[in-house]
Amino acid sequence: MAYYEIEGGAPLRGHIRASGAKNAITKELVASLLTSEECVFENVPRMGETQVTLDMLESLGSQYTWEDENTVRIQTPQLTATEVPLAFSGINRVPILLLGPMLHRAGEAAIPMLGGCNIGPRPVDFHIEALTRLGAEVQTEEARFVARASELHGTVIDLPFPSVGATENVLLSSSMAKGTTVIHNAAIEPEVIDLIVVLQKMGAIISVDVDRTIIIEGVDHLTGLRHRTLTDRIEVASFAIAAILTGGDVFISGAQQINMMTFLNKLRQAGGGFEVNHEGIRFYNTGKSLQPMALETDVHPGFMTDWQQPFLILMTQADGLSVLHETVYEKRFGYVNELKRMGAQVELYRQCLGGKTCRFVHRNFYHSAVIKGPTPLKAADITIPDLRAGFTYLIAACIADGVSKIDGIRYIKRGYAQIREKFEELGAQIREVDTAPETELEALPA
Ligand code: EPZ
Repeated sequence: MAYYEIEGGAPLRGHIRASGAKNAITKELVASLLTSEECVFENVPRMGETQVTLDMLESLGSQYTWEDENTVRIQTPQLTATEVPLAFSGINRVPILLLGPMLHRAGEAAIPMLGGCNIGPRPVDFHIEALTRLGAEVQTEEARFVARASELHGTVIDLPFPSVGATENVLLSSSMAKGTTVIHNAAIEPEVIDLIVVLQKMGAIISVDVDRTIIIEGVDHLTGLRHRTLTDRIEVASFAIAAILTGGDVFISGAQQINMMTFLNKLRQAGGGFEVNHEGIRFYNTGKSLQPMALETDVHPGFMTDWQQPFLILMTQADGLSVLHETVYEKRFGYVNELKRMGAQVELYRQCLGGKTCRFVHRNFYHSAVIKGPTPLKAADITIPDLRAGFTYLIAACIADGVSKIDGIRYIKRGYAQIREKFEELGAQIREVDTAPETELEALPA
């Protein structure tokens, strides 16, 4: 298995280009199944997760080519299979989103059980309930979900929580349903909006109304499109913190302020430097000490849960006590133990600390953290438990004293494009040691 060796201490300096967002492109590739015409996506990140999604679509009859490094042409003249092979079991969250488009194309669909990062139970009950309301009959079998529908029809869906995946599922399933669908309590993350933009370019009629209401008027036909996928705001935030904590100065071209305003506000409050211009955002260390703060994650436009891990490492270097309350996933502090071994002072609590009471109150999940800083970190051998924690470990290793060995890098490679190359480019002392070839479909990101 491959691992990284990182020698801490080098300030990250220079210029990198932000990649396209994994959590947008994978869903947009699924949207291409709704038409038999050619769809072209630009700014597609070359990473394991994109490739797995393309492989899944290919197993259903899609044909694709890479036009250049980051442009994919994909077309599905006919659906040649109605079952996603079991080989894709436990790989990621994409199969559940395939159900709607496959039902439109073939009236039946079977998908394997989902995978994804181990950050909580991650049920799909909202998806199944929504598909059922749209007129599908969905059965859960031992190893797969099987769905049938002669046609999907518009309905009203009240999501119990503004789930990103469930909102995307309804968008993909209802764009060609008969009649109008209304989603109440919908997710409005930029990646969801980017999917709506894609569907609109394809001919869908979707409006985003006040109070998290999305209205989809079903159409009979969708066409091909050309689309440039939005930038990965999680990658940008992570490199921003890496730049600041290493005492560096990094310009990230393609970084989009509009999708990162909540992060930028918190970064400014913490004392991190940034400057925006029309090409991207420069992040730098101001030379002043970082300030502690209370912060809680939330659905958009709140502080996103995927920024939580890099921000926690920032808090370990702030001058005083910080509080971080995770309100989206119940088990998203699993990575903290390894950071404690490196010297971070973090305590986890079951209570809702620092802000409002969340839906995990009295549910016995360690979902709040108190972080005492600043604490120097020392190098360690650590194993990555999930994608976003993985990047955080890279930052920790970059500021630690000594050489860290980081195992489990397959998680990172699945969700970040050219991650080692980007760290190297910025001057990090990072080396990949490959001890054996990796298997194709191993590992599971978001
Ligand atoms: C997406 O996950 C992202 N993954 C996640 O990114 C991201 O953290 C999350 O949205 C929130 O922004 C992808 O886009 C592939 P949810 P998703 O449905 O859609 C509960 C990363 O590292 N829920 O919004 O799976 C669920 O358990 C990741 O890139 C149900 O209870 O997230 C969670 O507590 C990790 N039942 C909450 O809702 C359901 O049927 C939010 O989940 C669906 C969700």
